[in-house]
Formats: sequence, C-alpha cells, structure tokens
Amino acid sequence: MQRDTAGYTVALAASMKHIYLGNPGETYFSTSDIGWVVGHSYIIYGPLINGMATIMYEGLPIRPDAGIWWSLVEKYKVTVMFSAPTAARVLKKQDPAFLTKYDLSSLKALFLAGEPLDEPTATWIGGALNKPIIDNYWQTETGWPIMAICNGVEPAPTKFGSPGKAVYGYDVKLIDETTGEEITEPNRKGVIAVNGPLPPGCLQTVWGDDKRYVSTYWSSIHNKVMYSTFDWGVKDEDGYFFILGRTDDVINVAGHRLGTREIEESISSHPNVAEVAVVGVADPLKGQVAVAFAVLKDPSKVAGPDDAKALEAEIMKVVDGQLGAVARPASVRFVSVLPKTRSGKVLRRAIQAVCEGRDAGDLTTMEDPAALAQIKDLVS
Ligand code: PRX
Repeated sequence: MQRDTAGYTVALAASMKHIYLGNPGETYFSTSDIGWVVGHSYIIYGPLINGMATIMYEGLPIRPDAGIWWSLVEKYKVTVMFSAPTAARVLKKQDPAFLTKYDLSSLKALFLAGEPLDEPTATWIGGALNKPIIDNYWQTETGWPIMAICNGVEPAPTKFGSPGKAVYGYDVKLIDETTGEEITEPNRKGVIAVNGPLPPGCLQTVWGDDKRYVSTYWSSIHNKVMYSTFDWGVKDEDGYFFILGRTDDVINVAGHRLGTREIEESISSHPNVAEVAVVGVADPLKGQVAVAFAVLKDPSKVAGPDDAKALEAEIMKVVDGQLGAVARPASVRFVSVLPKTRSGKVLRRAIQAVCEGRDAGDLTTMEDPAALAQIKDLVS
C-alpha cells in the first residue's frame, strides 16, 4: 500500500502527543515485531519524530524470563509502553511476581492494540502493574488509531472492552449491512466505516493498483462510497465503540449467520479454556459448521480420550445455553497452542484450510509452524 509520507509524519507526531502520552526527551518502548505496522509506526517513526528515545527489543517476552520487559523499563526509565493483548495473555501464564520485581515508577501507561482486549486480561495486567491499560483500535491501512482515548487532548475514562471514541480526523460511522443506512441509535451492531477523505497518514492507494484500492476498500458499503474497516462494532450512549470482530469471520450454518467471535467468547467463558479459535468448515448438509480448537488452562483434564469427550460435551452445553444450539460447534478439539502470526493474530484462514483439506497458503508470518501441524494431525 502507499501512504503520503508527509501526512504520515504529521499523523504520527500528533498521535504520540495526543494519544500515547509521549514527550520529547522521554523513552518509548513498543514491544512489537519490527515487521508489523505497530513496529514501523511506534518503534521507529512515531518516537523519533517526537524527539523520544526508542527501544527495539527482538525476542520473546518470557526469555530469559518473564521479567525481561520490565527490567528494560527500569533500566531505561521507559515512560510509555505499547504492546498487544496476546503478549499480556502470554505473561498471564507466568509468575506474576515478575511484574513487580522491577522499579516501574517511570511508566505512565501500557497501550494495547491489534485484537480485542478482554476484560480479564486487562484487569489482570493493570492490577499486576498498577498502571493504566489503554486499548486503541486501528489497522495497517490507517497507520495510527481510528479509536482511542485522546488523553492528551481531553482526558476521558476508559471503559472495559472498548478502545474508546473515534479519533479526530476520522468521520467514523456504523452502517447497517443490508440497507447501507447509518445506525444512529446506541448499541446496535453495524459495519465500522469511515467517510472520506481519510485523515493524513492513511493508505492512499494499493501500490500500483488504484482500481483494487477502490474496489476493495471503498465499494463494499451498500449504496455509499465509504472506507470499510471490515470490522463489526457497536457504539454506546457515550460514544464509546466496542469491536465485535471481522465481517469476514462470519459463517453460515444451515442458513443461520453466526460470528465466529461470538462463539469463541462463549467457549472462553468455560473456566478451563485459556484460548480458543473457531472456524467455519464446509459441510455437505449445513453449508458450514463451526469447529473449535481450544487451549486449556489445565490440559491434564483431557489426559484420556473419555475426558476429552466429556469436556467437549461440557463446552457445547455452555454454547447451547448462551447462544442456542445452532451455534454449537460440531466439534471441540484440544491443542497446546494456536497457530498465530508473530503479532498475535490467530490464523483462522489457515486453520479453516487445513480442516477442509486444502493448502494453507502463505504461512511466512506464522510464529510456530508446529501449531498448525497439530491441527492437521487432529483432523486428518
Ligand atoms: O480487526 C481489527 C483488529 O485488528 C485489525 C487490524 O489489524 P492490523 O492491520 O494488524 O493492525 C493492527 C494495528 C494496531 C482490525 O481491523 N484490531 C486492531 N486493534 C483492535 C482490534 N480489534 C479490537 N480491538 C482493538 N483495539
């Protein structure tokens, strides 16, 4: 994709000051992978444009131990950190003593972006660090936040599960998928779309392919020329948005449209489930069925084949109770790890391909190839 570089400079300078609480002379630490957009925007350009020192750390948050990040905060007097919910969930499985072992008095806040930040994770890490945890929502395409709490402009409280309000420069609307009408009443689900022009820093075209830019991003909203984020969301009475998953993560089971994210959330409410991915798998009878792959907090609970069956039934019952039998996954399989990108996104498309016996495609961004091999073994 192609951005206007001057606009990108303006956007990142503004976002450092207004969203990320960064001041010249201070030290910023984005734990992101350098290959991810958060790496470009907030390891390199954002801090440096804003006159800040920046820390680049290549490696896992738990090597040599789970205190590595916090030791860097102490050593370099980091004032702002930026990471992803997936990293917080990794730390959650480690000894929480690592989070209080070092002097974190320089740190003002921890920003998280890239995927939905669930309340238990936010509460856990915020409590353990005793620092504000601030969610923010954006995309590679935009390069800087679409939704955030702009504490540097007008301080506002954080609401759990919400990345905040629309950031200035983005004319964000919720659109009814079938009619293309704007949704104005609170708490009704719609597609998150943005009226043009997009603010500085966002993509201006797809590299060498203007037509594709228009057909992909500006032509999917019924009867309107608007930029689609391809995410579902709702907005509450106070203007806070809640992100409800990707519009393309929808499956169709016997004529019922279901969001895989809703099924995942329901399964996650089972006390032994640490993480879960749900995909739609082609089915000759129903069109598609939901198939779930879950990572357990205590895997010893499925040591025997009967145990796995019993837990699968228990989880199905949870989904039946919360969403109805139509959302019940056709199977729930237990794995030790989910296939993810290095930035923590579950590779649902690759899981789906493997479940349907297809080639999983380009997997160069995958963190741990063994994770997909495990799923292949389970379904073949
Ligand atoms: O689905 C949304 C999700 O991640 C997508 C963008 O991913 P990427 O291009 O990798 O850019 C990430 C830059 C932070 C979005 O379309 N997403 C991103 N942030 C959030 C989120 N979902 C929920 N809450 C967020 N804060």
